[in-house]
Amino acid sequence: MSRILVTGSAEGLGRAAADALLSAGHEVVVHARNEDRAAALSRLVARGADIVVGDFTERDAVVRIADELDAGRPLDAVIHNAGVWSGPAVMPVNIVAPYLLTALLRAPRRLVYLSSGSHFGGHPSLAGVDWRGGSAGSYSDSKLFVTALAAAVARLRPGVLSNAVDPGWVPTRMGGPDAPDDLVLGHRTQAWLAAGDDPGALVTGGYWYHRQMLEPHRAVHDEAFQDLLLRTLAEETGTAL
Ligand SMILES: NC(=O)c1ccc[n+]([C@@H]2O[C@H](COP(=O)([O-])OP(=O)(O)OC[C@H]3O[C@@H](n4cnc5c(N)ncnc54)[C@H](OP(=O)(O)O)[C@@H]3O)[C@@H](O)[C@H]2O)c1
Repeated sequence: MSRILVTGSAEGLGRAAADALLSAGHEVVVHARNEDRAAALSRLVARGADIVVGDFTERDAVVRIADELDAGRPLDAVIHNAGVWSGPAVMPVNIVAPYLLTALLRAPRRLVYLSSGSHFGGHPSLAGVDWRGGSAGSYSDSKLFVTALAAAVARLRPGVLSNAVDPGWVPTRMGGPDAPDDLVLGHRTQAWLAAGDDPGALVTGGYWYHRQMLEPHRAVHDEAFQDLLLRTLAEETGTAL
């Protein structure tokens, strides 16, 4: 049994992954942005999930959540799932919060980052990025950055399994009702990489789609780009990886 944090689990793929991991007998920590949204998790909490609450557009809230989790039973895995499609929250939620949690959380040995096929349209340039969310951010860029973060962690943290997952274009609130891909397959790869014990799940540095490893944007494995991204995020947050 593993103890697994799933960020952004009030609905969509995060909720589905948390539900599946609980059903499989794991300890799950769910996450909602505020107390109102925490109400959406009451059934998972009644089934034994722990809960943390905090808005990922607020860095102080991300740090407080990391402190709370570090003071409790150690996590085995984190699924960095919380995400937004557009607007000023894109960079804070999609890349800064996963970076900060990665830097601060003690000891999880498996890290899964939600990427997207949209990352192929991202620009491997950090010039002018508004990390604080004062203006709208590019979703594609944020997903390219988080995919590169997953690869950088795989390179720099021996013993940690770090992977990125494209869940497919699936019919959640973000994906919309006409999304063509399979909603059930949309969370399975994350749950498998976070807690599976077959050899196929014990890999690192992958970019996955429905349990198949694919080749990501070439910037993802560019070590100079990874290092620049980490340096920039460290300077921006005051927290080194
Ligand atoms: N659906 C797709 O087709 C698709 C495709 C590729 C990648 N993805 C990725 O998959 C992940 C999950 O997406 P989804 O489709 O399940 O989206 P969703 O249904 O919109 O769920 C997003 C989750 O993130 C949480 N969240 C958003 N902003 C937050 C904030 N400021 N603080 C804390 N939590 C916040 C949401 O909480 P609230 O409910 O309170 O807003 C919700 O629980 C995302 O990273 C997304 O980029 C999705």
